[in-house]
Amino acid sequence: MSAGAGTGFAYRDGALHAEDVALASVAARCGTPCYVYSKAALTAAYRGFAAAFASRRHLICYAVKANPNLAILNVFARLGAGFDIVSGGELARVIAAGGDPRKVVFSGVGKTVAEIREALTAEILCFNVESVAELLRIDRIAGELGRIAPVSLRVNPDVDAKTHPYIATGLKDNKFGVAYGDALAWYRRARELKNLRIEGIDCHIGSQLTDVAPFAAAVERVIALVEALNAEGITLSHIDVGGGLGIPYRAEERADGIAEYAAAILNGSANRRETFLFEPGRYLTGNAGVLLTRVEYLKRGGERNFAVVDAAMNDLMRPALYDAWHDIVPLHEHAGTLESWEIVGPVCESGDFIGRDRRLALQEGDVLAIRSAGAYGMSMSSNYNTRPRAAEVMIDGANVHVIRKREHVAELFANETIPA
Ligand code: LLP
Repeated sequence: MSAGAGTGFAYRDGALHAEDVALASVAARCGTPCYVYSKAALTAAYRGFAAAFASRRHLICYAVKANPNLAILNVFARLGAGFDIVSGGELARVIAAGGDPRKVVFSGVGKTVAEIREALTAEILCFNVESVAELLRIDRIAGELGRIAPVSLRVNPDVDAKTHPYIATGLKDNKFGVAYGDALAWYRRARELKNLRIEGIDCHIGSQLTDVAPFAAAVERVIALVEALNAEGITLSHIDVGGGLGIPYRAEERADGIAEYAAAILNGSANRRETFLFEPGRYLTGNAGVLLTRVEYLKRGGERNFAVVDAAMNDLMRPALYDAWHDIVPLHEHAGTLESWEIVGPVCESGDFIGRDRRLALQEGDVLAIRSAGAYGMSMSSNYNTRPRAAEVMIDGANVHVIRKREHVAELFANETIPA
Protein backbone atom coordinates (compact mmCIF):
# COMPACT_ATOMS: atom_id res chain seq x y z
CA MET A 1 0.00 0.00 0.00
CA SER A 2 1.50 3.32 -0.89
CA ALA A 3 0.81 6.60 0.83
CA GLY A 4 0.52 8.22 -2.57
CA ALA A 5 -1.66 11.17 -3.29
CA GLY A 6 -4.76 9.02 -3.81
CA THR A 7 -5.05 7.03 -0.61
CA GLY A 8 -8.23 7.79 1.32
CA PHE A 9 -9.45 10.48 -1.11
CA ALA A 10 -11.20 9.79 -4.42
CA TYR A 11 -13.95 11.09 -6.70
CA ARG A 12 -17.19 9.15 -6.60
CA ASP A 13 -19.84 10.15 -9.11
CA GLY A 14 -17.92 13.34 -9.73
CA ALA A 15 -17.74 14.35 -6.06
CA LEU A 16 -14.51 14.24 -4.05
CA HIS A 17 -14.84 11.97 -1.04
CA ALA A 18 -12.74 11.19 1.98
CA GLU A 19 -13.53 7.52 2.53
CA ASP A 20 -17.35 7.37 2.43
CA VAL A 21 -17.99 11.04 3.09
CA ALA A 22 -18.44 13.72 0.41
CA LEU A 23 -16.11 16.58 1.24
CA ALA A 24 -18.78 19.09 0.22
CA SER A 25 -20.87 17.89 3.16
CA VAL A 26 -17.91 18.39 5.51
CA ALA A 27 -17.46 21.95 4.24
CA ALA A 28 -21.18 22.63 4.69
CA ARG A 29 -21.24 21.21 8.19
CA CYS A 30 -17.89 22.32 9.59
CA GLY A 31 -17.15 25.43 7.54
CA THR A 32 -13.92 26.42 5.82
CA PRO A 33 -10.97 26.54 6.05
CA CYS A 34 -11.01 23.02 7.44
CA TYR A 35 -8.41 20.27 7.58
CA VAL A 36 -9.80 16.82 6.83
CA TYR A 37 -7.88 13.62 7.56
CA SER A 38 -8.64 10.06 6.53
CA LYS A 39 -8.15 7.52 9.29
CA ALA A 40 -7.89 4.76 6.70
CA ALA A 41 -5.08 6.62 4.93
CA LEU A 42 -3.21 7.16 8.19
CA THR A 43 -3.59 3.52 9.06
CA ALA A 44 -2.55 2.32 5.60
CA ALA A 45 0.57 4.45 5.64
CA TYR A 46 1.57 3.16 9.08
CA ARG A 47 0.85 -0.47 8.23
CA GLY A 48 2.75 -0.18 4.94
CA PHE A 49 5.77 1.18 6.76
CA ALA A 50 5.65 -1.53 9.42
CA ALA A 51 5.20 -4.29 6.83
CA ALA A 52 8.25 -3.11 4.89
CA PHE A 53 10.39 -3.66 7.98
CA ALA A 54 8.66 -6.81 9.19
CA SER A 55 11.89 -8.79 8.81
CA ARG A 56 13.71 -6.54 11.27
CA ARG A 57 13.05 -5.74 14.92
CA HIS A 58 11.97 -2.13 14.74
CA LEU A 59 9.98 0.67 16.32
CA ILE A 60 8.25 3.41 14.35
CA CYS A 61 8.45 6.65 16.33
CA TYR A 62 6.02 9.00 14.59
CA ALA A 63 7.46 12.54 14.42
CA VAL A 64 4.81 14.44 16.35
CA LYS A 65 5.73 17.80 14.80
CA ALA A 66 4.27 16.76 11.45
CA ASN A 67 0.76 16.73 12.90
CA PRO A 68 0.31 16.68 16.67
CA ASN A 69 -3.49 16.46 16.93
CA LEU A 70 -4.38 14.12 19.80
CA ALA A 71 -6.69 12.06 17.59
CA ILE A 72 -3.89 11.44 15.09
CA LEU A 73 -1.44 10.49 17.84
CA ASN A 74 -4.07 8.16 19.24
CA VAL A 75 -4.49 6.37 15.89
CA PHE A 76 -0.76 5.68 15.78
CA ALA A 77 -0.54 4.77 19.47
CA ARG A 78 -3.21 2.12 18.96
CA LEU A 79 -1.25 0.74 16.03
CA GLY A 80 1.73 0.30 18.35
CA ALA A 81 3.75 3.36 17.42
CA GLY A 82 6.29 5.16 19.51
CA PHE A 83 6.86 8.89 19.08
CA ASP A 84 9.67 11.28 18.23
CA ILE A 85 9.23 14.51 20.19
CA VAL A 86 11.09 17.81 20.20
CA SER A 87 9.57 19.56 23.21
CA GLY A 88 7.95 19.05 26.58
CA GLY A 89 4.73 20.14 24.94
CA GLU A 90 4.88 17.25 22.50
CA LEU A 91 5.58 14.85 25.38
CA ALA A 92 2.45 16.12 27.13
CA ARG A 93 0.46 15.56 23.93
CA VAL A 94 1.73 12.00 23.54
CA ILE A 95 0.72 11.18 27.11
CA ALA A 96 -2.68 12.91 26.72
CA ALA A 97 -3.29 10.93 23.53
CA GLY A 98 -2.66 7.58 25.23
CA GLY A 99 0.85 7.09 23.82
CA ASP A 100 3.46 5.16 25.76
CA PRO A 101 6.28 7.41 27.04
CA ARG A 102 8.55 4.37 27.14
CA LYS A 103 8.42 4.39 23.34
CA VAL A 104 9.36 8.07 23.07
CA VAL A 105 12.62 9.44 21.71
CA PHE A 106 13.41 13.07 22.42
CA SER A 107 15.21 14.97 19.63
CA GLY A 108 16.11 18.64 19.27
CA VAL A 109 19.06 20.94 19.88
CA GLY A 110 17.59 23.03 22.69
CA LYS A 111 16.20 20.76 25.40
CA THR A 112 15.63 22.84 28.54
CA VAL A 113 16.29 21.73 32.11
CA ALA A 114 12.55 21.48 32.72
CA GLU A 115 11.98 19.41 29.59
CA ILE A 116 14.79 17.01 30.48
CA ARG A 117 13.32 16.57 33.96
CA GLU A 118 9.87 15.86 32.56
CA ALA A 119 11.23 13.32 30.11
CA LEU A 120 13.29 11.53 32.77
CA THR A 121 10.30 11.43 35.09
CA ALA A 122 8.12 10.02 32.29
CA GLU A 123 10.81 7.34 31.68
CA ILE A 124 11.15 7.91 27.97
CA LEU A 125 13.00 5.41 25.79
CA CYS A 126 15.90 7.66 24.78
CA PHE A 127 17.32 11.16 24.50
CA ASN A 128 18.76 11.89 21.07
CA VAL A 129 21.58 14.11 22.25
CA GLU A 130 22.63 16.85 19.86
CA SER A 131 25.66 18.38 21.60
CA VAL A 132 28.30 17.80 24.18
CA ALA A 133 26.86 20.51 26.42
CA GLU A 134 23.51 18.70 26.33
CA LEU A 135 25.16 15.39 27.25
CA LEU A 136 26.66 16.99 30.35
CA ARG A 137 23.37 18.67 31.24
CA ILE A 138 21.39 15.42 30.99
CA ASP A 139 23.96 13.62 33.12
CA ARG A 140 23.75 16.29 35.81
CA ILE A 141 19.92 16.36 35.91
CA ALA A 142 19.68 12.57 35.94
CA GLY A 143 22.07 12.59 38.90
CA GLU A 144 19.89 15.09 40.76
CA LEU A 145 16.82 12.95 40.16
CA GLY A 146 18.61 9.71 41.05
CA ARG A 147 17.91 8.28 37.60
CA ILE A 148 19.94 6.86 34.75
CA ALA A 149 19.29 8.64 31.46
CA PRO A 150 19.17 6.55 28.28
CA VAL A 151 21.03 8.36 25.49
CA SER A 152 21.92 8.17 21.82
CA LEU A 153 24.23 10.62 20.14
CA ARG A 154 22.80 12.22 17.04
CA VAL A 155 25.69 11.96 14.62
CA ASN A 156 25.87 14.05 11.56
CA PRO A 157 26.75 11.69 8.72
CA ASP A 158 27.52 14.64 6.44
CA VAL A 159 25.56 13.40 3.43
CA ASP A 160 23.73 15.70 1.07
CA ALA A 161 20.02 14.96 1.21
CA LYS A 162 19.43 17.06 -1.92
CA THR A 163 16.31 18.65 -0.53
CA HIS A 164 15.23 22.22 0.22
CA PRO A 165 18.05 23.92 2.20
CA TYR A 166 15.66 24.80 5.05
CA ILE A 167 14.90 21.13 5.64
CA ALA A 168 18.30 19.51 4.98
CA THR A 169 19.83 18.67 8.33
CA GLY A 170 22.65 16.19 7.79
CA LEU A 171 25.36 18.43 6.40
CA LYS A 172 28.29 19.42 8.53
CA ASP A 173 27.36 23.10 8.45
CA ASN A 174 23.89 22.44 9.93
CA LYS A 175 23.17 23.15 13.61
CA PHE A 176 22.16 19.54 14.23
CA GLY A 177 24.03 16.66 15.79
CA VAL A 178 27.62 15.83 16.69
CA ALA A 179 30.22 15.95 13.90
CA TYR A 180 30.94 12.50 12.49
CA GLY A 181 34.64 12.74 13.26
CA ASP A 182 33.99 13.65 16.90
CA ALA A 183 31.42 10.95 17.61
CA LEU A 184 33.79 8.22 18.85
CA ALA A 185 35.42 10.55 21.33
CA TRP A 186 32.00 11.62 22.60
CA TYR A 187 30.80 8.06 23.07
CA ARG A 188 33.96 7.40 25.11
CA ARG A 189 33.15 10.45 27.20
CA ALA A 190 29.50 9.40 27.61
CA ARG A 191 30.66 6.01 28.86
CA GLU A 192 32.46 7.74 31.72
CA LEU A 193 29.42 9.72 32.83
CA LYS A 194 27.78 7.94 35.76
CA ASN A 195 24.17 8.93 35.22
CA LEU A 196 23.92 7.95 31.56
CA ARG A 197 23.28 4.67 29.82
CA ILE A 198 24.35 4.50 26.19
CA GLU A 199 21.30 3.17 24.42
CA GLY A 200 21.88 3.79 20.75
CA ILE A 201 22.93 6.01 17.91
CA ASP A 202 20.80 8.43 15.95
CA CYS A 203 20.85 10.45 12.74
CA HIS A 204 18.39 12.44 10.65
CA ILE A 205 19.59 13.87 7.37
CA GLY A 206 16.63 15.92 6.19
CA SER A 207 13.03 15.90 5.15
CA GLN A 208 11.05 15.30 1.94
CA LEU A 209 13.69 13.05 0.37
CA THR A 210 12.22 11.51 -2.76
CA ASP A 211 15.42 9.65 -3.70
CA VAL A 212 16.54 7.08 -1.13
CA ALA A 213 20.23 7.04 -2.08
CA PRO A 214 21.21 9.54 0.68
CA PHE A 215 19.55 7.28 3.29
CA ALA A 216 21.68 4.36 2.13
CA ALA A 217 24.80 6.53 2.38
CA ALA A 218 23.86 7.72 5.86
CA VAL A 219 23.17 4.21 7.14
CA GLU A 220 26.51 3.03 5.78
CA ARG A 221 28.33 5.81 7.66
CA VAL A 222 26.39 5.18 10.85
CA ILE A 223 27.05 1.44 10.76
CA ALA A 224 30.77 2.02 10.28
CA LEU A 225 30.62 4.02 13.49
CA VAL A 226 28.64 1.31 15.28
CA GLU A 227 31.33 -1.20 14.33
CA ALA A 228 34.05 1.09 15.64
CA LEU A 229 32.10 1.45 18.90
CA ASN A 230 31.62 -2.32 19.17
CA ALA A 231 35.37 -2.76 18.75
CA GLU A 232 35.83 -0.64 21.86
CA GLY A 233 33.28 -2.65 23.79
CA ILE A 234 30.47 -0.10 23.44
CA THR A 235 27.35 -1.98 22.37
CA LEU A 236 24.07 -0.39 21.39
CA SER A 237 20.46 -1.51 21.70
CA HIS A 238 19.19 0.49 18.78
CA ILE A 239 20.08 2.36 15.62
CA ASP A 240 17.76 5.30 14.90
CA VAL A 241 17.83 6.32 11.24
CA GLY A 242 15.57 9.34 11.72
CA GLY A 243 12.74 10.38 9.44
CA GLY A 244 12.66 12.11 6.11
CA LEU A 245 11.05 9.78 3.57
CA GLY A 246 9.26 12.08 1.16
CA ILE A 247 5.86 11.89 -0.51
CA PRO A 248 4.67 12.83 -3.99
CA TYR A 249 3.01 16.26 -3.87
CA ARG A 250 1.85 16.17 -7.48
CA ALA A 251 -0.40 13.51 -8.89
CA GLU A 252 2.11 12.90 -11.69
CA GLU A 253 5.25 13.03 -9.53
CA ARG A 254 7.45 9.99 -9.09
CA ALA A 255 8.99 9.49 -5.68
CA ASP A 256 10.81 6.57 -4.12
CA GLY A 257 8.37 4.88 -1.77
CA ILE A 258 8.49 2.63 1.22
CA ALA A 259 9.76 -0.39 -0.75
CA GLU A 260 12.81 1.47 -2.05
CA TYR A 261 13.40 3.03 1.36
CA ALA A 262 13.29 -0.31 3.15
CA ALA A 263 15.60 -1.88 0.58
CA ALA A 264 18.11 0.95 0.98
CA ILE A 265 18.20 0.51 4.72
CA LEU A 266 17.92 -3.26 5.00
CA ASN A 267 20.54 -3.99 2.32
CA GLY A 268 23.08 -1.84 4.09
CA SER A 269 22.47 -3.36 7.49
CA ALA A 270 22.07 -7.11 7.03
CA ASN A 271 23.10 -9.08 10.13
CA ARG A 272 22.80 -6.17 12.54
CA ARG A 273 21.21 -7.23 15.80
CA GLU A 274 20.20 -3.80 17.05
CA THR A 275 16.56 -2.70 16.93
CA PHE A 276 15.97 -0.15 14.18
CA LEU A 277 14.11 3.02 15.04
CA PHE A 278 12.43 5.27 12.48
CA GLU A 279 11.05 8.77 12.92
CA PRO A 280 8.72 9.30 9.96
CA GLY A 281 6.39 12.28 10.06
CA ARG A 282 5.36 13.40 6.60
CA TYR A 283 5.22 9.89 5.15
CA LEU A 284 2.56 8.85 7.68
CA THR A 285 0.31 11.92 7.57
CA GLY A 286 1.14 14.07 4.53
CA ASN A 287 -1.14 12.49 1.98
CA ALA A 288 -3.75 11.53 4.57
CA GLY A 289 -5.04 15.10 4.80
CA VAL A 290 -6.50 17.90 2.70
CA LEU A 291 -7.32 21.51 3.51
CA LEU A 292 -10.75 22.64 2.35
CA THR A 293 -11.05 26.28 1.33
CA ARG A 294 -13.82 28.34 -0.21
CA VAL A 295 -13.42 30.77 -3.09
CA GLU A 296 -14.39 34.22 -1.78
CA TYR A 297 -13.69 36.41 -4.79
CA LEU A 298 -12.57 36.06 -8.37
CA LYS A 299 -10.50 38.99 -9.64
CA ARG A 300 -10.02 38.87 -13.36
CA GLY A 301 -7.89 41.02 -15.56
CA GLY A 302 -4.55 42.74 -15.50
CA GLU A 303 -1.63 40.38 -15.91
CA ARG A 304 -3.21 37.59 -13.93
CA ASN A 305 -6.44 36.14 -12.62
CA PHE A 306 -6.66 35.90 -8.84
CA ALA A 307 -8.90 33.59 -6.89
CA VAL A 308 -9.02 34.84 -3.31
CA VAL A 309 -9.77 31.90 -1.04
CA ASP A 310 -10.49 31.78 2.70
CA ALA A 311 -7.36 29.77 3.58
CA ALA A 312 -4.12 31.70 3.85
CA MET A 313 -0.45 31.40 4.67
CA ASN A 314 -1.34 31.33 8.35
CA ASP A 315 -3.29 28.10 7.71
CA LEU A 316 -0.81 26.47 5.32
CA MET A 317 2.59 28.08 5.36
CA ARG A 318 4.48 25.70 3.09
CA PRO A 319 3.91 27.50 -0.24
CA ALA A 320 4.97 30.87 1.20
CA LEU A 321 7.90 29.48 3.16
CA TYR A 322 9.37 26.87 0.80
CA ASP A 323 7.68 27.69 -2.47
CA ALA A 324 6.13 24.24 -1.99
CA TRP A 325 3.63 22.80 -4.44
CA HIS A 326 0.28 21.42 -3.27
CA ASP A 327 -2.21 20.08 -5.78
CA ILE A 328 -5.46 22.06 -5.67
CA VAL A 329 -8.58 20.31 -6.92
CA PRO A 330 -12.31 21.10 -7.08
CA LEU A 331 -14.79 19.17 -4.94
CA HIS A 332 -16.96 18.61 -8.01
CA GLU A 333 -15.68 17.56 -11.37
CA HIS A 334 -17.79 19.92 -13.43
CA ALA A 335 -17.53 21.14 -16.95
CA GLY A 336 -16.45 24.72 -17.44
CA THR A 337 -13.69 26.62 -19.11
CA LEU A 338 -10.32 26.03 -17.55
CA GLU A 339 -8.45 29.25 -16.86
CA SER A 340 -5.18 29.99 -15.15
CA TRP A 341 -5.58 31.21 -11.57
CA GLU A 342 -3.34 32.48 -8.82
CA ILE A 343 -4.85 30.96 -5.69
CA VAL A 344 -4.20 33.47 -2.94
CA GLY A 345 -5.28 34.05 0.65
CA PRO A 346 -6.60 37.20 2.35
CA VAL A 347 -3.42 37.93 4.35
CA CYS A 348 -1.71 41.24 3.64
CA GLU A 349 1.48 39.88 2.12
CA SER A 350 2.33 39.17 -1.50
CA GLY A 351 3.85 35.90 -0.29
CA ASP A 352 0.39 34.77 0.75
CA PHE A 353 -0.27 32.34 -2.06
CA ILE A 354 -1.38 28.73 -1.99
CA GLY A 355 -0.80 27.91 -5.64
CA ARG A 356 0.32 29.72 -8.77
CA ASP A 357 -0.85 29.33 -12.32
CA ARG A 358 -3.43 26.61 -11.61
CA ARG A 359 -5.77 25.63 -14.40
CA LEU A 360 -9.23 25.40 -12.90
CA ALA A 361 -12.84 26.24 -13.76
CA LEU A 362 -13.84 28.43 -10.83
CA GLN A 363 -16.91 30.21 -9.54
CA GLU A 364 -17.27 32.24 -6.38
CA GLY A 365 -18.43 30.03 -3.54
CA ASP A 366 -16.74 26.90 -4.87
CA VAL A 367 -14.88 24.80 -2.34
CA LEU A 368 -11.42 23.52 -3.26
CA ALA A 369 -9.31 20.80 -1.68
CA ILE A 370 -5.65 21.58 -1.16
CA ARG A 371 -4.04 18.17 -1.17
CA SER A 372 -1.11 16.64 0.74
CA ALA A 373 -1.85 18.94 3.66
CA GLY A 374 -1.77 16.36 6.46
CA ALA A 375 1.84 17.06 7.46
CA TYR A 376 3.28 20.45 8.44
CA GLY A 377 -0.04 22.08 7.65
CA MET A 378 -1.99 22.66 10.85
CA SER A 379 1.17 22.12 12.90
CA MET A 380 2.83 25.19 11.36
CA SER A 381 -0.28 27.35 11.34
CA SER A 382 -0.49 30.63 13.22
CA ASN A 383 -2.93 33.38 14.12
CA TYR A 384 -1.30 35.97 11.86
CA ASN A 385 -3.77 38.71 10.93
CA THR A 386 -5.83 37.59 13.96
CA ARG A 387 -7.22 34.69 12.02
CA PRO A 388 -8.69 31.89 14.10
CA ARG A 389 -7.08 28.59 13.22
CA ALA A 390 -9.02 26.12 11.09
CA ALA A 391 -11.15 23.25 12.34
CA GLU A 392 -9.80 19.71 12.00
CA VAL A 393 -11.92 16.73 11.12
CA MET A 394 -11.15 13.01 10.96
CA ILE A 395 -13.13 10.77 8.64
CA ASP A 396 -13.50 7.13 9.60
CA GLY A 397 -15.63 5.29 7.03
CA ALA A 398 -18.93 7.17 7.01
CA ASN A 399 -18.22 8.91 10.34
CA VAL A 400 -17.18 12.54 10.65
CA HIS A 401 -15.35 13.45 13.86
CA VAL A 402 -14.45 17.04 14.65
CA ILE A 403 -11.04 16.54 16.27
CA ARG A 404 -10.32 20.23 16.82
CA LYS A 405 -12.93 22.94 16.96
CA ARG A 406 -12.41 26.08 14.95
CA GLU A 407 -10.91 28.78 17.14
CA HIS A 408 -12.98 31.83 18.13
CA VAL A 409 -11.60 35.33 17.79
CA ALA A 410 -12.13 36.02 21.51
CA GLU A 411 -9.76 33.17 22.39
CA LEU A 412 -7.02 34.82 20.38
CA PHE A 413 -6.69 37.77 22.73
CA ALA A 414 -7.92 36.14 25.92
CA ASN A 415 -4.39 36.19 27.40
CA GLU A 416 -3.78 39.85 26.67
CA THR A 417 -4.24 42.74 29.12
CA ILE A 418 -4.32 46.50 28.77
CA PRO A 419 -2.24 48.15 31.56
CA ALA A 420 -4.40 50.37 33.82
N1 LLP B 1 13.21 13.42 13.13
C1 LLP B 1 13.79 14.62 13.28
C2 LLP B 1 14.90 14.75 14.21
C3 LLP B 1 13.33 15.72 12.53
O1 LLP B 1 13.93 16.90 12.68
C4 LLP B 1 12.24 15.56 11.64
C5 LLP B 1 11.73 16.68 10.85
C6 LLP B 1 11.65 14.29 11.53
C7 LLP B 1 12.16 13.24 12.28
C8 LLP B 1 10.49 14.01 10.62
O2 LLP B 1 10.82 14.24 9.28
P1 LLP B 1 9.80 13.79 8.13
O3 LLP B 1 9.71 12.27 8.15
O4 LLP B 1 8.49 14.40 8.42
O5 LLP B 1 10.41 14.30 6.91
N2 LLP B 1 8.29 22.04 7.89
C9 LLP B 1 8.95 21.30 6.84
C10 LLP B 1 9.53 20.00 7.33
C11 LLP B 1 10.48 20.18 8.50
C12 LLP B 1 11.00 18.88 9.02
C13 LLP B 1 11.75 19.06 10.28
N3 LLP B 1 12.24 17.85 10.89
C14 LLP B 1 7.99 21.11 5.67
O6 LLP B 1 6.85 21.56 5.75
O7 LLP B 1 8.36 20.54 4.66
